[in-house]
Amino acid sequence: MKFSLQNRWVLITGASSGFGAAAARAFAQEGANLLLGARRLDRLHHVAADARHLGAPEALVRHLDVSQTLSVNDFLAWAKTEIAQRSSAEPSLTVLVNNAGGALGLDTVETGKDEDWESMMQSNVLGLLRVTRAALPLLKNSPGASVINIGSVASHDAYEGGAAYCAAKAGERQITRALRLELNGTGIRVASVDPGMAETEFSLVRFKGDAARAAKVYEGTHPLTADDVAEIILWVATRPAHVNIDELIVKPTDQASVFKVFRRK
Ligand SMILES: NC(=O)c1ccc[n+]([C@@H]2O[C@H](COP(=O)([O-])OP(=O)(O)OC[C@H]3O[C@@H](n4cnc5c(N)ncnc54)[C@H](OP(=O)(O)O)[C@@H]3O)[C@@H](O)[C@H]2O)c1
Repeated sequence: MKFSLQNRWVLITGASSGFGAAAARAFAQEGANLLLGARRLDRLHHVAADARHLGAPEALVRHLDVSQTLSVNDFLAWAKTEIAQRSSAEPSLTVLVNNAGGALGLDTVETGKDEDWESMMQSNVLGLLRVTRAALPLLKNSPGASVINIGSVASHDAYEGGAAYCAAKAGERQITRALRLELNGTGIRVASVDPGMAETEFSLVRFKGDAARAAKVYEGTHPLTADDVAEIILWVATRPAHVNIDELIVKPTDQASVFKVFRRK
């Protein structure tokens, strides 16, 4: 039987755009309560308003920078208080979506920049570890809880210019696997959802605001949308409690591999 998220608490990092915002909308339609974090608070407020409109009983937002331990711990302390204020039982979290992250630059190793490498490791790898560490006590209070980490096809195949990002997402994949082992017997589920090319703000961020270069990535092809990926995240979280989707790769039909993308003239 489908695992119900009605009135359960779902925490999504990087909920201000792309997959995170779309996941907020998808979980809202299941009647889940939302805790949404990212650095752009104005954008989070819009996502939360949409989520409430779509059926989320609660959609709460707070500034979160996963690259800072203090920010992560502050966010989770806030989350615990907000949940506790609305519940007579022990505060519990049912789904954690570790989505915050992305790529910066497409430089070769020879030309790569420290600040880009460090930022990618901070958000995709250390951020994931920090948020998960802080959220685990709340997840342990919710039978059938899920940790859903957003990986990438970049963790499966390297590409030129992607050394640091591919390494970061390979890190995400191994953290997912280690956590799956560590939590065996607790009932907490752990998954990695690994998308291929999806049209979000990902490329705009990667190319530091160069919209023309970002648009070229999707030219002539039919990429995944944020909603496609959000639907899959929701599906993973709503499998029966005894079912764990360990790793799921999803690519556009036009993308046979990281390198082989069909483009219409
Ligand atoms: N689009 C793709 O083709 C693709 C494919 C595979 C995997 N992914 C992965 O999917 C995830 C979501 O990306 P997306 O495609 O939805 O791109 P996006 O639209 O750029 O969204 C990225 C989200 O991450 C947040 N974020 C980044 N750094 C953060 C930090 N230090 N602290 C808190 N939040 C942070 C951003 O929010 P703020 O800027 O407001 O903080 C934003 O909400 C990322 O992990 C990305 O690597 C994307």
